[in-house]
Amino acid sequence: MDAQTFLIYYKVHIGSWILLLILFGVLFVLYKWKLPFANRILRFMIWLLYIGQVTSGIAMIYAYQFPITYVIKGLISLILIYAMEVILRKTKRNRSGTSAYWFIWFVALAIVLLLGFNVGMNT
Ligand code: HEM
Repeated sequence: MDAQTFLIYYKVHIGSWILLLILFGVLFVLYKWKLPFANRILRFMIWLLYIGQVTSGIAMIYAYQFPITYVIKGLISLILIYAMEVILRKTKRNRSGTSAYWFIWFVALAIVLLLGFNVGMNT
């Protein structure tokens, strides 16, 4: 992969993770208080962001030749996305039992951010 292509994936990845978290927060609040505001459009947007995040992540891992820490980061990111989906679905249907998933969300997010920013690694 040439440097230009890598830069595109990199920018998509670092440009959209904050947006993904904000959108998750917005959707959670909308579902919690049963506000009908643009739910479908925002739901579609968050799915696009999941896809963008995973695709750009895989492309970068490939470019880096699969370093183990980033592979682990990628797998835990999938757990993070799963936790967000379950939380949103349960909240939308007014179901209980989200606390375990909030715990998973919090731990997974912490690990993903630490590994993403290379905290504790000598790079
Ligand atoms: C919800 C999903 C994800 C979130 C929130 C997330 C978040 C982040 C963050 C915050 C960084 C650091 C960006 C920076 O240096 O400014 C990063 C880097 C990275 N992520 Fe993700 N990520 C996610 C999914 C993935 C997936 C699925 C993969 C791979 C399969 C992946 C692979 C990478 C790689 C390889 C880097 C290092 C980029 C570099 O510094 O050169 N990420 N990610």
